[in-house]
Amino acid sequence: MKAPVSLSSRLRPPVSAITAYDYPSARLCDEAGIQIILVGDSLGMVVAGNPDTTSVTLEQMIYHTAMVRRGVKSAIVVSDLPINTYRTPAETVINGQRLVNAGADAVKLEGLTEQLPNVEALVSAGIQVCAHVGMLPQRVVEEGGYKKKGKTDAEAQDLINASIALEKAGAFAIVLESVVAQVAAEISRCLTIPTIGIGSGSDCDGQIRVLPDVTGGYPWFVPPFARVYGNVAEVTREALKSYIHEIDNSLI
Ligand code: KIV
Repeated sequence: MKAPVSLSSRLRPPVSAITAYDYPSARLCDEAGIQIILVGDSLGMVVAGNPDTTSVTLEQMIYHTAMVRRGVKSAIVVSDLPINTYRTPAETVINGQRLVNAGADAVKLEGLTEQLPNVEALVSAGIQVCAHVGMLPQRVVEEGGYKKKGKTDAEAQDLINASIALEKAGAFAIVLESVVAQVAAEISRCLTIPTIGIGSGSDCDGQIRVLPDVTGGYPWFVPPFARVYGNVAEVTREALKSYIHEIDNSLI
């Protein structure tokens, strides 16, 4: 089989990336010119209302990936492999292929060097992979919270070594989540694939955010690093008030 052209060749740094979970939001992101649309397992939190991502299933990711695919013409669609769906290389390939069949151009998985066999297996099967290091939301329960990564020299070196190894294993891009800014900058200098930061400072090759954090669509919790650019929740509340007012006053 001919090796697929790495998706990194379609990316133009600085890379704009954002999550989307359904047809209208994906279509709006694509029409706005976003380069990567991630069907993130953060949908377990901001769509399903769970406290973290650890209850998200592969079936849910397949369902949302298909919705997003229908809304996207230009952007690269990446889908998260949820927790417990990539425990062995064989399992990773079977489940990665199911996300690709649902419409993903690539899959994302969380972890450091322990993920190298899974990344290599995906790449050998022709499935493109985005790596994800730093804070790993799928491990939030065992780690007891969302913690900054790379604070000690040893942790920083592990992150740098793992990122280099993940690139060598064939990842086309790498998400750096909640990594100390200087460490994220150093990783970005060491790699040729784009680093895409979230809560990791401005010296990455691109940025990714969770859609409602950008639009103001999830007012009940906003991460400390998020910059909110819209007021979707407020606009929705106002529209609903007007609708109820018209019903109450027999205007429709
Ligand atoms: O699931 C998600 O939204 C993510 C981003 C935070 C990178 O993995």
